[in-house]
Amino acid sequence: MKKIKVIIFDAYGTLFDVNSAAEKCKEKIGDKWENFANYWRTTQLEYTWLRSLMKRHKDFWQVTEDSLDKSLLAFKIDPRMRSELLNLYKILNTFPEVKEVLKNLKEKKYKISILSNGTPDLLDGLVKSNNLEKMFDDIFSVEEVGIYKPDAKVYDMPIKKYEVAKNEVAFLSANTWDVSGAGNFGFNSIWVNRNKNIFDKLDYIPHNEINNLNELLKLIYKNE
Ligand code: LAC
Repeated sequence: MKKIKVIIFDAYGTLFDVNSAAEKCKEKIGDKWENFANYWRTTQLEYTWLRSLMKRHKDFWQVTEDSLDKSLLAFKIDPRMRSELLNLYKILNTFPEVKEVLKNLKEKKYKISILSNGTPDLLDGLVKSNNLEKMFDDIFSVEEVGIYKPDAKVYDMPIKKYEVAKNEVAFLSANTWDVSGAGNFGFNSIWVNRNKNIFDKLDYIPHNEINNLNELLKLIYKNE
């Protein structure tokens, strides 16, 4: 962590709370809303990995719709909830500390960007609906390379753009598999472990683990 020049955030689950769409419908969905939200997210991710392996890319919005359709059936939820859930997915909330942390980092010398499976339109929409437009130097979407994380082509996009070494990048994700992917690629990985989860067994251990993004500030400033 000695010579970090670029700080890159994963989007879904790291900056933006993917469960916030279903949570806003919890009155209508009932107690199962959280299991349903987790199932939707897991199915969505499985579809990204499977499509990458099958070389049949569809963009993240289509994958989000497909995985929602399966999840609605699996949880016997009224299909009329579909459009409400999808509209809410376009305006997911950030986690509470995100804006303040980004503002603090922005005052420093780092390049700050997002690197995500999301489409450029989806990511722009999330950034705008949360008033974060001024916070990022770049928003990298997998659509530029047509394959999902953890393919190395995805993590290579900021390296090409900024012409920095891999170990000059701090990469943050709450998704353990994304931390493994980015870490195996060569980034300084920081696992945002909000829920005291267990890390994956993928022959990789993250450089750092934090409970939320406030701890990133301490970590970064300690290394300046
Ligand atoms: C993303 C997913 C992995 O934003 O959360 O890329």
